[in-house]
Amino acid sequence: MNPTTPETQVAAEGTTRMSRDTLSITDNRTGKAYEIPIKNDTIHATDLRQIKVKPDEFGMMSYDPAFNNTALCQSKITFIDGDKGILRYRGYSIEELAEKSTYLETAYLILHGELPNRSQLEEWTYHITHHTFIHESVKKFLDGFHYDAHPMGMMISAIAALSTFYPEAKDIFNKDSRRKQTYRLIGKMPTLAAFSYRHSLGMPFAYPDNELSYAGNFLNMLFKTSELKYRPNPTLEHALDVLFILHADHEQNCSANAMRCVGSSHVDPFSATAAATAALYGPLHGGANEEVLRMLLEIGSLANVPAFIKRVKAGETKLMGFGHRVYKNYDPRARIIKHVADGVFEIMGRNPLLNIALECERIALEDDYFVSRKLYPNVDFYTGLIYQSMGFPVTMFPVLFAIPRTSGWIAQWEEMLLDPEQKIARPRQVYLGYDLRPYAPLDQRS
Ligand code: CMC
Repeated sequence: MNPTTPETQVAAEGTTRMSRDTLSITDNRTGKAYEIPIKNDTIHATDLRQIKVKPDEFGMMSYDPAFNNTALCQSKITFIDGDKGILRYRGYSIEELAEKSTYLETAYLILHGELPNRSQLEEWTYHITHHTFIHESVKKFLDGFHYDAHPMGMMISAIAALSTFYPEAKDIFNKDSRRKQTYRLIGKMPTLAAFSYRHSLGMPFAYPDNELSYAGNFLNMLFKTSELKYRPNPTLEHALDVLFILHADHEQNCSANAMRCVGSSHVDPFSATAAATAALYGPLHGGANEEVLRMLLEIGSLANVPAFIKRVKAGETKLMGFGHRVYKNYDPRARIIKHVADGVFEIMGRNPLLNIALECERIALEDDYFVSRKLYPNVDFYTGLIYQSMGFPVTMFPVLFAIPRTSGWIAQWEEMLLDPEQKIARPRQVYLGYDLRPYAPLDQRS
C-alpha cells in the first residue's frame, strides 16, 4: 500500500484491526527481538537505534541515499499517488484547479489550506499586487550582471539579495512577518524574472502594472515596448496562469527539500528561497524543461528520432522530460499541458518541434526499455514547446517554473517551521573512511 495515501490513514485509524500496529524485528546477530510501532504505514527511524550488538554502540540506522524511501515530514499540503498519476493540492484535484481556479487563488489555497472566500481573495490579490515593485537598488544590482548571464543565476542572486533589503524577515516565528514576506516573495518573483530577461536583451525594465492579473502583469513586464498600456493576449495570459497552477507545488521534491532543509536552520525565507531556486535550476529538476528543448533541437527531424532513442537505451544520453521519482504513470500535469499547448499553438502557430516530441513519446510508450522502467512524460516534456511558442528564450524556462513554485516553497517552509517534531535538518552518514592514523610529515609521503 502506498504509505502516504489518505486511504492508508483511514485504515491506520480504523478500529477493526485484526493485528497489532507493530513491526517485529529479530536481530540475527544477537537473537534479540524488537517490536517497533507502526503509524501511517511508517516506522520512526529513531526506533531502530535500540537495535545494537553492544550497549555502547550508536545503534542501527536506516541507509537511504537520495531519500528513496524516507518520509522527511508529515504534510497536509500536496498529495501525489505516483502509480495512479494523481496530484492534489489540499485535497483538490489538479485537473479541477487547472480548469476552474487561478494561480493566485491556488497559491492562497496551498498556503492557507482552504480556498478563499471573495473578500479573502480580493485582499490576498491586493497585497500580492502591491508588492510587485522592487527597490531601485535591486535594479542596479541586476544591471551589474553580464549581458548573457543565465536568468536563473540572476534570480538566485537577486532573491538572496532581497534578504538584505528586508532584515525584519529574520523574525520567522512572527506570523505577520511571515505573511509580509510571503506577499513580497510571490509579488516580486515575476518582477525579478522579467527584469532578468530584459537585462539579457539590453532593454529598459518595464515596471509592474497593478491593473493587470498576475500572469498578465508578468507578460507586460516581459514584452511591453513603446505602447502606453500593454494588453496581454487573453489566451496566452490564461495559458500562463494554468501553467503556474500546475507548477505551484509538488510535495517533497528536490527544491522543496532544499527550502525545508535550509529553512530548518532558521534563516530568513529569502535566503531559503534562493537555495530552493538553486536546487530547481539543475537539469534533473526544473532545468529539465530547458534541456528538453535543447534535446529536441539536437534531434532536429523525425527521421533522427529512432537513432536518438537507441542512444538513450544504450545509456549514452537521457530522454529529458521523461521519468520521475514518484510518478510511475503519466504525469497528470503533462496531460493538462498538452491541452494548453493546443490553445497556444492556435494563436502562435504550431511549434515545429512538436512532431519530434510526439514521435519520441509514441516510440517511448511502446518500447520495453521505457515501459519496463515506467518512464512516462513528466511536466517538463511539453512546457518548453509552449514557452518557446510564447516567445520565451530557453534560458527563461526554469525561471517560469520558479515563479509559481514560490507559493509551494513558502507553504512547505511554514509547515516545517510550525511542526513541533521538526528540528534543524541534519542527516547521519555511514562512515567508511580511514580509522585513526598518524600524520605523515611532507618529506615522508610517497
Ligand atoms: N531517460 C532514459 N532513462 C531514464 C530516464 C530518462 N529520462 N529516467 C530514468 N531512466 C532510467 C535510469 O537510467 C534507470 O535505469 P536502470 O534501472 O537501468 O539503471 C531507471 O530509469 C530508473 O531511473 P532513476 O534514475 O533511478 O530514477 P530517479 O527516480 O532517481 O530519477 C529523474 C528521476 C526525474 C531524475 C530521472 O527520471 C531523470 O533524470 N529524468 C530526466 C530529467 C527530467 O525530466 N527531470 C524532470 C523531472 S519532473 C519535474 C521536476 O520535478 O523537477
